[in-house]
This record gives sequence, C-alpha cells and structure tokens, in this order.
Amino acid sequence: MQLNFQKHGQGKPIFLLHGFPLDSKMWEENILNLIAKNFQVILPDLEFEDDNDSLSNTAEALASLLSSLKIDKAIIGGLSMGGYVCFNLYRLHPELFAGLILCDTDSSSDSIEKRNFRFDLIDKISQRGNQAVVDSMLNNLFSNDTKINRPSIVNKVKSWMLQSNVSNNISALKAMADRMDHDHILDTINIPTKIIFGAEDKITNLEIAEKLRRKIKNSELSIIPNAGHFSNLEQFALFNECLFDFVCKVY
Ligand code: MLT
Repeated sequence: MQLNFQKHGQGKPIFLLHGFPLDSKMWEENILNLIAKNFQVILPDLEFEDDNDSLSNTAEALASLLSSLKIDKAIIGGLSMGGYVCFNLYRLHPELFAGLILCDTDSSSDSIEKRNFRFDLIDKISQRGNQAVVDSMLNNLFSNDTKINRPSIVNKVKSWMLQSNVSNNISALKAMADRMDHDHILDTINIPTKIIFGAEDKITNLEIAEKLRRKIKNSELSIIPNAGHFSNLEQFALFNECLFDFVCKVY
C-alpha cells in the first residue's frame, strides 16, 4: 500500500495523522506556523485494507513513506484514528519516533458496544452513504461552545464527511473495530510525548487522557477548554501553541 501525502515546508520533519472520517485537510489550521518556523510538515491520507490487520498495514505503509522520503526519525502524531495508527507504528518501529503527539485518542481496543456501533454504521453507510456517518457522528464531535459560537467549523466538518470516500470509510471502521489493544506498550514508550485533549471530548474522554499521561513516562498533557473531539479545529490557536511548544522542546 502506498499512502498519498502532502509535504509543506523544509526542516525537521513532523508527521500528523488525521482522524475518521476525514483526511489530511483537517490539519489546515495547524501547519502555517510550523512551516513559517522552518519545520517540514508531512500530512498522509490514511488508507485501509479490508483485512484483519489493517491498522498495522497502514502503519507499515507509513514506515515505508518515511523511508522513501529518507527520513530516519520524526515527530509523529495523530488525532483519534491517527493516534491508533501511531500506537501501531510505535509497536512496530519505535526507532522512527523523535517524539509522539497523541490527540483525542486511546490505546485500548474497542469495547463490545463500540464494535457494535461500528458494524451498525457500516450497514447504514452501505444503504445511505456518508449521510449515515453525519447522522451517527456529527453531533457528538464538538463542544457546546463550538456548536453555538463557531457553527462554521461544524458545517465544514459535515461537508468533509459527505465528500469522504465511502469504501475507505467502511474499511476504516472495520480496521478500528479489529484493532489491537496497545495498553501494554504505554510503559515502554520512552520518547517525549505530548497528549492534547479537548476538555469536552465525548468520543475519547479525559479519563483516557489521564490514563495516557499516567502510563507514558515522559509525557505531558494539555487540556483545551471549549473543545470537543476535534480540538485541533475547534480551538486551533490554543492547540497550535501546545504543538509548537512541544516540537521546539523536542527539536
Ligand atoms: C476519529 O475521530 O478518528 C474517530 O472518532 C475515532 C473512533 O471512532 O474511534
């Protein structure tokens, strides 16, 4: 599998992996400052195969991308599903990480309820396309403050959801439902790690953020007020400060 990607700027490399069901566009508010300060930002579009080890395969495709770009080590981060891929990549290739960024994500595998939700959503997408993703997910993704004061962000995410690739969404849902549990690797992570969560994230909540902070030795947690699951979009200025501080510490 070969991943499509965008590459912006020159300098020390930072990879950012997007969440479901979006693509690399979701980082559009987060990269300008990094590029201006001479970092290189690489934004892959994650793709999934229809098999039972798909997130590992996506992580291997990412390792191949680093190799094809002749990058030995990078700061690698992901939001939600992007974070699930980071855990797979760290298990398979820890040597590729100069630093790790975990945003609104979890190291645990799915509960039975969450797996059932995903397979139910796959059925609905097969019948009604991406409108089913919007109906099942959109309302839970944002803080109240975003919904009331920044509805354009909600509308933008909705239009990205509707434009996203239906068959990749179905494969991504299967891949997330079947993903490995990575709780056991948390205490082996020995690189600088930044954890960023929206204070009102309902998909991956602050208990999860606290678990990651407690179990990953060299980690720091920032909680972004008035943000839900897409903290990088909902409060991009605060998110960008956290990101920038961290990359400056690592590099
Ligand atoms: C995401 O934002 O990537 C998804 O909400 C992740 C998930 O459904 O577990």
